[in-house]
Parts: sequence; C-alpha cells; structure tokens
Amino acid sequence: MKNPFTIGIAKEERFCNRKKEIKELKNFIKNRQSVVIYSPRRYGKTSLIKKVLHDLEKENKNFVGMYVDLFSVSSYQDFVEIFSKSVIHSIGREVNRSFIKKVKNLFRSITPTFTFKPDGSFSVSISFSPSLTIENLLSDLFEGLENYAENNRLSLCIVFDEFQEITTLEESKKIEGIIRSYIQNQQNVSYVFVGSRRKLLLDMFIDQKRPFYKSSYLYRLEKIGKEEFVKCIKNGFDKTGKICFEDIAQNIYDLAEGYPYYVQKLSAIVWDLTDKKVSEKIVNDALKTLIKMESIDFENIWINLNKGEKIVLKTIVKFPHLSVYSKDFIESSGLSIGGIQKAVNSLIKKDIIEKENKKLKLTDPVMAHWIKKSVQD
Ligand SMILES: Nc1ncnc2c1ncn2[C@@H]1O[C@H](COP(=O)(O)OP(=O)(O)O)[C@@H](O)[C@H]1O
Ligand SMILES: [Mg+2]
Repeated sequence: MKNPFTIGIAKEERFCNRKKEIKELKNFIKNRQSVVIYSPRRYGKTSLIKKVLHDLEKENKNFVGMYVDLFSVSSYQDFVEIFSKSVIHSIGREVNRSFIKKVKNLFRSITPTFTFKPDGSFSVSISFSPSLTIENLLSDLFEGLENYAENNRLSLCIVFDEFQEITTLEESKKIEGIIRSYIQNQQNVSYVFVGSRRKLLLDMFIDQKRPFYKSSYLYRLEKIGKEEFVKCIKNGFDKTGKICFEDIAQNIYDLAEGYPYYVQKLSAIVWDLTDKKVSEKIVNDALKTLIKMESIDFENIWINLNKGEKIVLKTIVKFPHLSVYSKDFIESSGLSIGGIQKAVNSLIKKDIIEKENKKLKLTDPVMAHWIKKSVQD
C-alpha cells in the first residue's frame, strides 16, 4: 500500500480542505483583483494556487492559468526565459498543429524552438537577440499575452511564485516598474504574486516609493485548521487499512503545531512505522525521526547565524513565555537591549522568528524542537 501522506505538492485526494481560501482566491482572480499570497515557506501556497488554477480551468474552458516559478531566477534573461516558457507550456497543454502556429506568432522578438518526444510531449527552448533590452523583452511578453487573450477570448491568470526573488536581480527596479505598468492596464489578465520571504515580498507592496505600492490585495495564508486537518489525517489511515484514533491524530497535529508540511511529514513517518494501529509511542518515535531528518537543514541555517542571533534563539526556545525585552530574558541571554534588538530584527528579516500574539516565536516548530535537543547547553 502506498503512503497516503505527501511532502510534495499536495493535490487531488491528498489535498486537504482550504475551502474558504479556494473560494476567496477564485473571486479575486475572477474580479481581476491582483493578490499577494504570503506565508512562511511550506504552508501550502504553491499547492493552493495550483489547485485554484486547476479548478478554474475545469469550470471555464476559456480560462488559462499560467504558473511561473521564480525560485531560481538569476538574471533578467533568465526571468524572460522562465516566464515565456511557462506561457508556452500553459497554452500548449494540448499540443496540436494550430497550437504551434499560435505560439510561433505569440511574440515578436522571442523565438521558441520545439523538440518533440515520441510520447507526444515536447520541450521548448527560447532565444532572443542579446541586443534587446529588458523593456523590449517584457513589452513583447506582456503585449503578446494580452493580444493572445483578446484574440482567443480568454481570461488569463499569471501566477508568479516566489516573486520576491526578482528583487535579487540587478535590474529589479526596472522590472518592478514595467510589470506594474502592465498589470494596471490589462483587461484580460489577472495576477497573483506568491512568496515565502515575507519581509522582502511585502516591502515591495507596502513601501510607498516602490512601483507595486497599493497595487494588490495582501492575502495572508494561515495554517490549515485543526479540525479539518485531523479529519484528513484520520482519513489517510482509514483508506489504507490502518487505524488512527482522533486523539492521536490531534497529537500529531499539535506536535507539528499545525504547520502543514510537518503535519504531513510526521503523518507519513507514523504511517510507515505503523502496522495496524497507531500508538502514542509510534508518534513519539516518529517525531524523533522527523527532527533527525530535518537537522541538516537546521544545521545549515544555524552555522550562518551570528552569536547574538544564536543566543536570542536559544533563549526564546528555553523561555518561550518571556517577552524578549523583559528583565529575565535580558539577564538570562547576557546580551544588551541593543544587542537583542539587532538580533531580533535580523531574525525576523530572515523569517526565522515571527510575532504571534505580541510574543516572538520560532517560525518553524521543528527547528524549535531541534534547538532544544541539539544545541541547548
Ligand atoms: N492543502 C493541503 N493539504 C495537505 N497537505 C498540504 C496542503 N497544503 C500544504 N500541504 C503540505 O505542506 C507541504 C508544503 O506545501 P507547498 O504548497 O509546497 O507550500 P509553500 O508553497 O507554501 O512552500 C506540502 O508538501 C504538503 O505536505
Ligand atoms: Mg511554494
């Protein structure tokens, strides 16, 4: 029997709930309201937006979703290549001759070349003259898209995932300005900007001096609610002939603090370890395994922190109930208020800690477990 829990993109029967979010996001897209979806990494943004696009395409044959993953973007040429490739792939989900004809004339200066495989699928490579500026290329892309939508009576939705990565490019200011000028004038295209590095992403949209200021609705994606997620966990066991009682499923959710990726991963490990019925002991063993599996990731983060940041993290984990500027926290950290402030700001910027109910906590609950176990003296 196959493990019913997933640590890849959650889809189909592995996709849990999010009914309210799906409805809200569909409405934004239908109303051509641009939206920014933000949350810590691994909360389910990519899974959610892909599901929304998929649903909209099923409901309306004139709707085309275009998913552009900017996670690895490294130059403006790269941006143009990633963007145009995903446009072409989205238009060409069903390949036929007329499709090639359509795509061949989609852009003026960006030329796609196709290589077909025996199974009917294809790969595409992109070329354009190196003398073209970023303005030339982006206007070619955006105008090509708008014309395509108009001529074929389509509504398009373009999703830029990990959008904040464009701020790492040398030409980022220009790119921001150009995209902004198109999104506000297009009739048939809606935009969704998604990102995990929240400070970087939100600064693009809330800084008055930046082109995207007030251009989009800011949509914060929360964790998946306990009741729904517990149902999904139980159901995963049920349908594969194993038993997980409700209180144990709740325990899995609580240990992972409802963090979607960890809830799934912990459930997956528990499932592997379970023969017939999940026990408390299996869950505890699974948690240890999970922490071990994630530790390489945490070690990498840890070695890149400075001394003040490390001390603040350790102290937060040790005294989660203390405010970081309280007398007890300051005393036990041994840092000055200024030192704490500096470390806190930089940890927030890196998304390692965040404010919740006026208290600072680690964004990643498993990292907190790991610090407690591995680096606490
Ligand atoms: N709706 C969902 N149902 C079940 N699992 C989910 C859901 N959303 C997210 N997950 C879990 O969280 C993990 C991270 O999801 P992903 O969409 O990649 O997040 P993000 O894009 O926010 O980093 C997935 O691999 C899956 O295990
Ligand atoms: Mg993602």
